[in-house]
Amino acid sequence: MKPVKTDSLDNFAETAERHKERFRFEWPGKEAAIKSAREPATQNLVPVEEESLHFNDTRNLYIEGDNLEALKVLQDKYSGKIKMIYIDPPYNTGNDFVYNDKFRDIHNKGTHKSGPGESAADENALSSRNHSIWLSMMYPRLMLARQLLARDGAIFISIDDHELHHLRVICDEIFGASNLRNTFAVRRYDKNLNRQFMANGLKTFNVGFEYILCYAKSEAFEFQPVFREPSQKRSATGYWKGFWNDADRPTMRYDLLGFTPETGQWKWKQETALEAVNNYKEYLEHFSSQMSLEEYWIHTGMTKKFIRRNPNGKGKNKGVENWIAPSSGILRSSNWTDLLVSKSDETSKGLFDFPKNVEVIKTLINTACKSEGIILDFFAGSSTTAHAVMELNVQDGGERSFILVQIPEDTHPKSHARKEGYENICQIGKERINRVVDKLKGESAQVDLGYQVFRLENVSFPGG
Ligand SMILES: C[S@@+](CC[C@H](N)C(=O)[O-])C[C@H]1O[C@@H](n2cnc3c(N)ncnc32)[C@H](O)[C@@H]1O
Repeated sequence: MKPVKTDSLDNFAETAERHKERFRFEWPGKEAAIKSAREPATQNLVPVEEESLHFNDTRNLYIEGDNLEALKVLQDKYSGKIKMIYIDPPYNTGNDFVYNDKFRDIHNKGTHKSGPGESAADENALSSRNHSIWLSMMYPRLMLARQLLARDGAIFISIDDHELHHLRVICDEIFGASNLRNTFAVRRYDKNLNRQFMANGLKTFNVGFEYILCYAKSEAFEFQPVFREPSQKRSATGYWKGFWNDADRPTMRYDLLGFTPETGQWKWKQETALEAVNNYKEYLEHFSSQMSLEEYWIHTGMTKKFIRRNPNGKGKNKGVENWIAPSSGILRSSNWTDLLVSKSDETSKGLFDFPKNVEVIKTLINTACKSEGIILDFFAGSSTTAHAVMELNVQDGGERSFILVQIPEDTHPKSHARKEGYENICQIGKERINRVVDKLKGESAQVDLGYQVFRLENVSFPGG
């Protein structure tokens, strides 16, 4: 078994050692967690052809097993090759994650088992133990994930208030604080749960959104612009607005449609304004009987400006107006609260509670992975990322591929999925992809709608 490529992991550990006296974020088990990233993988990828789809004709991978092992095994072939990583790790809301690493034991040693009515100190001890376990789980995985990212790649991490503050600090350490590009806010369902506490004193409002952190691998990563629907008011039609600017540059006071201001100024330089006057004349004379101004604007490439003068106009601009074009979309900010973070659809219904909204993941992919590139999700759950990749490729003819990693965690014995016969989350993940393929297969012959299944299995040594 080959050891994990450790050059830059070694550097990372040495740099951390040298900077011991600097500002640092510590928890019991951190050193062991860093060390665990550098230990060789103990498992191999074994192909499972019978559970795959178009095994010999696909670049998509579905890996069943612990992602720490998977991230190590992937280094050999994919180091520096991954364009985008999206992960939706357990948020550490209680017992929401499986964590088999031996380092859990470090945190268990000597810890008191607390219960209701415990003191503030006990409560703190319990909570810091829980944070420590989560951080020790995340840290080596993020170190290895960084190694996989291409120079112009980026990682996106879903998280909520339980660990956002800690995640920021460890990501600053691992990816570099200057590589934080954005913290996106995405909307949760409006809940009215805390209403019940109003009478006795409301301690917190229901949490209405969560976050997606984006760290670039380096300055070479560039976002693709993505747009959102304009609000109703700004949408379909353009409108006329007074052509005026309250600054006072004499060079910007020129004759426009028979009026030259004596104070103040026009909005644009003379050449642009005169061209806009001519554009509108041209429209009136030759096109206004056939189409609306909006249609003419679209027909001529959505760049023309227009100016007119309302003969009865008063005010500083004496009725001179410029046309504000319909807004076809607003460049998104980091406020994504128009999008719901979790949403089921026909491909995930009955399989998984609270899958991520495929539209959110598609939008993320659109910002980071234009038409080709490998997208890795190593907390795959119900395979929303695979759904998003396949659907986008069908929609825009892209050639993106995915690598998903999911541990075969048992489904809850009382869950709908278990009643339907899905024993573990890998079965759910694969079923979801199959449903997506069924939905999309009529729509494009070119797109890769297959996946190879691999299982991580212990390396057996001859005679061992
Ligand atoms: C919050 S869910 C992800 C949901 C997913 N984004 C979706 O839309 O369906 C996190 C997933 O990570 C998986 N997971 C937790 N620890 C893991 C590990 N060590 N290796 C691989 N998967 C793990 C859990 O089983 C769970 O399915």
